[in-house]
Amino acid sequence: MCGIVGYIGLQQASPIILDGLRRLEYRGYDSAGICTLDEGVAQIRRAQGKLLNLENLLYDNPARGTRGVGHTRWATHGRPSEINAHPHRAGSIVLVHNGIIENYISLKGRLQDLGHQFSSETDTEIIAHLVEDHYRDSGDFEQAVRQALAEVKGAYAVAILCIDEPDKLIAAKLGSPLVVGQGKGEYFVASDIPAMLSHTREMIFLEDGEMVVFTPLAMRFSDLAGNPLTKQSKTITWSPTMAEKGGYRHFMLKEIYEQPRALADTIAGRALVEEGDVYLEDLDLDDAQLAGLEKIFIIACGTSWHAGLVGKFYLEKIARVPVEIDIASEFRYRDPIIPANSLTILVSQSGETADTLAALREAHGKGGKTLCICNVVDSSIARESDGIIYTHAGPEIGVASTKAFTTQLVALYLLALKLGRIRRSLSAADCQARLADLLELPRKLEETLELDAEIEELAREFVNARDFLYLGRGNLYPIALEGALKLKEISYIHAEGYPAGEMKHGPIALIDEDLPVVVLVPRNSTYDKVVSNMEEVCARGGQVIAVVSGDDEELLDKVAALISVPTVDEDLLPIITSVPMQLLAYYIAVLKGTDVDQPRNLAKSVTVE
Ligand code: AGP
Repeated sequence: MCGIVGYIGLQQASPIILDGLRRLEYRGYDSAGICTLDEGVAQIRRAQGKLLNLENLLYDNPARGTRGVGHTRWATHGRPSEINAHPHRAGSIVLVHNGIIENYISLKGRLQDLGHQFSSETDTEIIAHLVEDHYRDSGDFEQAVRQALAEVKGAYAVAILCIDEPDKLIAAKLGSPLVVGQGKGEYFVASDIPAMLSHTREMIFLEDGEMVVFTPLAMRFSDLAGNPLTKQSKTITWSPTMAEKGGYRHFMLKEIYEQPRALADTIAGRALVEEGDVYLEDLDLDDAQLAGLEKIFIIACGTSWHAGLVGKFYLEKIARVPVEIDIASEFRYRDPIIPANSLTILVSQSGETADTLAALREAHGKGGKTLCICNVVDSSIARESDGIIYTHAGPEIGVASTKAFTTQLVALYLLALKLGRIRRSLSAADCQARLADLLELPRKLEETLELDAEIEELAREFVNARDFLYLGRGNLYPIALEGALKLKEISYIHAEGYPAGEMKHGPIALIDEDLPVVVLVPRNSTYDKVVSNMEEVCARGGQVIAVVSGDDEELLDKVAALISVPTVDEDLLPIITSVPMQLLAYYIAVLKGTDVDQPRNLAKSVTVE
């Protein structure tokens, strides 16, 4: 997830674009860049790191001109660096992009065959060369953009300049957000409202497949085929702070709602449905090694450790590899036995967690191969791992991890499919079927988010509970742990997650009418067992909040509350049931009045022991 800004009008573009990028830094901040056009010359300035580095560059070497584009990056393809920073240029075409191009490898190969030279590792640069290639043929900037974007698969929001046609700025959208700001004799375009609020409140939201051509005097909307469109502007009444949260009250809620997009971005380009296989671009571990693996370790902390617990089920069931899972702070000090043909997987959203980094080094020190599942490109753990699977969740600002967690589960699922194919424990046909289910998941998550109001209501009933118990079996036991962690870390209510089958071994003594018990009981292979565990709770007056799948009328009259999630394949239930866990914790915390985005005593990344 990156931030793009474009401007065309009467003012100097650079300060306007910089101000807009500052307000979009929550969308990504590992590098930034700007291009303005001044008397037919492209003034491109790019810098790695925070936006301040770009500002310092511009202070020493200003970029002049009254039209320009800018970008603040959250790296997905290609590590954070000046060379990978946007804008990217090809001939007379300069552009910035937010999104993920799925077919960038095939497009890049074709363009290289046509003689195009690439300077960066990004997928974005391919679009610049594609537009330039068509522009060289037609001499028509607008048509070249249409032709190029028609060939692109994946998600994009682009703002494009052409040095030979300096009185035009073109923007287009598919899958990634793009908003137009209408000023007086000037136009703005950006990934999100905050970038333009200090200049105008008249905004026009582009839909997928739409394009806008700006000139200093007018803007013209059309579809990619060139058919004109009429768009209505909306007056935005949000404050700038509200706008950064996309109108949501907290970043956590915004990020819960970003999960369908985050899952889609994490799957994009990796699900080879036709071949019945998976493509993991940075795996960098050879098939022979993976085929001969005798053991996998999964090491992490907190929510990422819960993701690892689910990953154990995926890898053992699908890839038939024994998996040992451990908490990083334990693993690093227990002198673990690391067989030569083992793989240690580190799961970390930030890629900076001290204990997880130390565990990686412990595994390396004993000759093991390592792979990280990480949300931050080029983070410490990513840099030191032998292989990487990036989640494409975008920056996660809320301390309580939500979209990073569900995208970690998707990454682990993709890895299990990949290993299953390499180790021949998964047929191409079965892989195809699983990938088809996986591609449906973002839509199923959208459906699950419709539970929002129902869960907000439920939170009111249980906000005053002193303790909560969360129960789950099999691959839902980790979700019971995750639900309990979400609740305790943002509402400060004590909560425990437990295997449902453990009730008789102790926790059942806790049951009384004051103890809400969240039971994850969707229809799966252990459904009947969990129903009987749940009935043990009900029989002792426990208040059961049952999370079921589809319609489960027979449970309705037994429980205090029923939350029904869409039906999905049993192995994908951990992902879909995470959403009600997140929403329940969120709304209880809001009612408690805690600082949901920055809960007391917690940090987003624990970079010390
Ligand atoms: C989860 O909501 C917490 N923020 C915390 O448990 C977190 O998952 C843990 O600190 C690990 O962080 P990492 O994924 O960045 O390594």
